[in-house]
Amino acid sequence: MAHGVLTRKPVADMIEQSQEEAHRLRPQALGRWDLAALGIGAIVGTGIFVLSGVGATMAGPAVILSFVVAGIASALAALCYAELAGSVPVTGSSYTFTYATLGELIAWVIGWDFILEYGVGSGAVAIGWSGYLASIFESVGVHLPTALLHGPFDSVQPGIVNLPAVGILLLVAWLVSSGVNQSRRVNNVIVIVKLLAVVLFIVVGSFFIHPANYTPFMPYGWGGVMTGAAIIFYAYIGFDSVATATEEARDSRHSIPFGILVSLGVCTLLYLLVAFVSSGLLPAQAYRGQAAPLAYALQHVGQGWAAGAISIGALAGLSSVMLVGVFSGARVLFAMSRDGLLPKGLAKVHEARRTPQRVIWLGALISSICAGLLPINVVAELTNVGTLAAFTLVSIGVLVLRYTQPDLPRTYRVPGVPVVPLLAAAASIYLIVSLPVLTLIRFGVWLLLGFLVYFLYSRKHSRIEEKILVTTQPSMPESNA
Ligand code: ALA
Repeated sequence: MAHGVLTRKPVADMIEQSQEEAHRLRPQALGRWDLAALGIGAIVGTGIFVLSGVGATMAGPAVILSFVVAGIASALAALCYAELAGSVPVTGSSYTFTYATLGELIAWVIGWDFILEYGVGSGAVAIGWSGYLASIFESVGVHLPTALLHGPFDSVQPGIVNLPAVGILLLVAWLVSSGVNQSRRVNNVIVIVKLLAVVLFIVVGSFFIHPANYTPFMPYGWGGVMTGAAIIFYAYIGFDSVATATEEARDSRHSIPFGILVSLGVCTLLYLLVAFVSSGLLPAQAYRGQAAPLAYALQHVGQGWAAGAISIGALAGLSSVMLVGVFSGARVLFAMSRDGLLPKGLAKVHEARRTPQRVIWLGALISSICAGLLPINVVAELTNVGTLAAFTLVSIGVLVLRYTQPDLPRTYRVPGVPVVPLLAAAASIYLIVSLPVLTLIRFGVWLLLGFLVYFLYSRKHSRIEEKILVTTQPSMPESNA
């Protein structure tokens, strides 16, 4: 008889399967600061370099509060991620956490969701990267052909294919497939470059603040602040990718929670300072329609040299978001195939490099199709809803695991249970319902497709069939701690 769709996978089985020779990633490759850099690599990108201007036009100078609200929602979720990462030392992030806590079907939904967050998300970033590259060429008088900068379904300016976007994704996939150490080194360098750019903006900009620009502070009331927060949330996405590096981390039970909390903490602090300085540099409405708001603001106050440095930082930022996106997306697809929910052959690891080659190229292919063909707003909104759905289920997962496996070793515990996880879930659900209805419908269609794949393929091929399993009935306590 087939197992129930709510069957949970024991943590011990997960650990055992992660040790199989064909499925073993390179262990001990990443230290706690590499993991923090991985998180920052994924977080600082389009959100701060592009969308902060959109947020300012929605909330006015109170965009600072939008950053606070989105930061709180992310911090609540990050605490929950940190607890699960400290108790389930297996790659796959929220997919794996939900498999251990809420059962196979919900884990599948999260994994399927992740194909959106990472696959489609990297595509979105690649489109932004291509736009930045084109504008840099433009500034030196070189015009790239429009037909090769836009996909055919771009409603504003249809073209043939976004060639630079596809090219950068393939380059990133090649780097990620060449080994975890190569990815680590390149990511660490890029992260330093982009952090320097953000700090440069804060320092230089702070000399040109006009206090008059802070009034009226909240021209569109709390409504404006919250709409701004739903957009700005995108800027915080990424800390969850730290938990996809678990099997390659040193002392993962401590270093993964460290990487998650430090990366989000550093970025939140920098974001609040950026919001404060950018609101003081220009009246909020001056940011309308600006694709590079931070560079624009510095240009406006006569600091063109710094604006140029910010553009380089932005290009670096977008590159690392893609790098970590392809890296993490591959680890989730890898975990899903190793569990048998996707074809097991996909989970094969390269003998020498110890990277999951097949899923890296599969993920890059999905991202390239999205980047080459779809418009950026569709891609970015789908990324938000996918991520928020994962945050909601991870927050609930913390409560479930506390109840079902109270004695599981935990290196980090969320304070204030059950209030904090419940607040985390509520904040994510609130942000989901603030998104456009069309986005939710598109997400619904994606999930329906996911259910079809699950019932037609994944359920029958799940490796959970290999073991006698605990079920989700509360009357049958788990014994796999
Ligand atoms: N936080 C990432 C970005 O802003 C997704 O690009």
